[in-house]
Amino acid sequence: MGKMDKNRIYELLSPGIFLFSNRNIPRFSPRATKVLFDIVLKHFGTELDTVYDPMCGNGISACTLQAIFSDSIDTILASDITDTGVAVTGHNLNMITAPEWINYRIHMLETQGDPKSERALRHRIKCAELYRDEYQPGVQPTEQKVFKADVFNPNAKVLKFGSIDLIMTDPPYSRECVWDRDEGDVPDNPVIDFLDSMKPFLSGRGAFALMFDRGVPLEFPGYDLVRREDLKKRDGYLLVPRN
Ligand SMILES: C[S@@+](CC[C@H](N)C(=O)[O-])C[C@H]1O[C@@H](n2cnc3c(N)ncnc32)[C@H](O)[C@@H]1O
Repeated sequence: MGKMDKNRIYELLSPGIFLFSNRNIPRFSPRATKVLFDIVLKHFGTELDTVYDPMCGNGISACTLQAIFSDSIDTILASDITDTGVAVTGHNLNMITAPEWINYRIHMLETQGDPKSERALRHRIKCAELYRDEYQPGVQPTEQKVFKADVFNPNAKVLKFGSIDLIMTDPPYSRECVWDRDEGDVPDNPVIDFLDSMKPFLSGRGAFALMFDRGVPLEFPGYDLVRREDLKKRDGYLLVPRN
């Protein structure tokens, strides 16, 4: 791991600093992923093989896992229903592990500027350089795959049944970000349909780690709640399928 304090890394990983962020996707805090994944690690008590974010958006969760927890994860999978989400997540994950991608990003910032201000631009460039020089040398690349998929119709060509230790995701919120489908209607109870569609892909010890807007009333029939955690604006849930 690089010499930089892990706490400092959150600021650098925040969307819009040097990671790309798509305006249509709510800004997402890397810290929420970190807090929830620490709980996951305690629950598992050992390394995880495959971790999958099936609604990856800008990929901030996947990037946080790659930057901070790559020692504890073999493979990171990420998908989204939008082409933009897939593309942005792919670019962001590349920047987390490969200096040439950050160099290219710095070049783009320098040549295109920052619509906010010169000061904001300098700050972003400095953060990118800090990440590249002080932190990135210690980040072990995990195996990664980013692809397009609908959570209600999982891609069984990419995903293997019984292979995923953790499905960790941040589903759409009621107001800012909505459930979507390429074909067919969004189910009446999308959270439960999503869990049930994904369940066959979980390994024997598999679990879900989910983040929801604070105060959204939720029930998970067929799943045991291992832990609920206060993630500031959100609540985190660790669930396991009931046998
Ligand atoms: C709240 S955002 C995730 C933000 C993400 N954690 C990040 O780091 O940027 C929810 C995502 O779910 C995606 N989504 C909505 N319906 C979906 C579906 N049926 N299948 C897959 N992804 C879906 C949206 O495109 C959006 O990117």
